[in-house]
Amino acid sequence: MRVAIILGTARNQGNTHQLATYLRNGVAGTLFNLADYKIGTYDYEHRNINDDFLPLMKEILMFDHIMLASPIYWYAASSEMKVFLDRLSDLMTIEKNLGRQLRSKSASLLATGCDIEPPVCFEQMFELTYRHLGINYLGMLYCPCVDHLEIEQHQFVIDSFLKNLHA
Ligand SMILES: Cc1cc2nc3c(=O)[nH]c(=O)nc-3n(C[C@H](O)[C@H](O)[C@H](O)COP(=O)(O)O)c2cc1C
Repeated sequence: MRVAIILGTARNQGNTHQLATYLRNGVAGTLFNLADYKIGTYDYEHRNINDDFLPLMKEILMFDHIMLASPIYWYAASSEMKVFLDRLSDLMTIEKNLGRQLRSKSASLLATGCDIEPPVCFEQMFELTYRHLGINYLGMLYCPCVDHLEIEQHQFVIDSFLKNLHA
């Protein structure tokens, strides 16, 4: 299974970046950091059609599994991730052909936050979005961290998550 990890965080080399990099190595996947792309906010007139969104999506569509990675910021996805998700609407309007290709994909979610449990609304937003796009959602890996992420402390949940992906 070819895995594309799409990371959206305000902090390069931060907790979510660290988790995404660890998972990238674990699944031999490819990491796309949204910070490396110029992606404009959703535009009803599609005036940003020539930014990096469509070329990035075309690359992502070459993978079987899409793993979105975001920290929890105020009970929600990071702004970087939200902009990316909003732009998926382009695939339902002007690029329907690309949108249809999403239906053959599976997906999952990586997240970090400081609370022990993530709020239900955080995962639900991703789950409903995946469902709307016809993508098969396989679950979330959440790693709580007060300050810095210590990967070893989360080894059990990481291993269970990876097992579930390959089940
Ligand atoms: C603006 C902001 C809002 C946050 N809101 C939440 C929150 O609602 N729930 C939570 O558990 N952690 C929250 N946190 C903590 C971060 O999710 C946590 O530190 C995360 O690991 C940071 O990941 P990063 O290094 O990729 O930014 C917030 C942090 C910031 C900077």
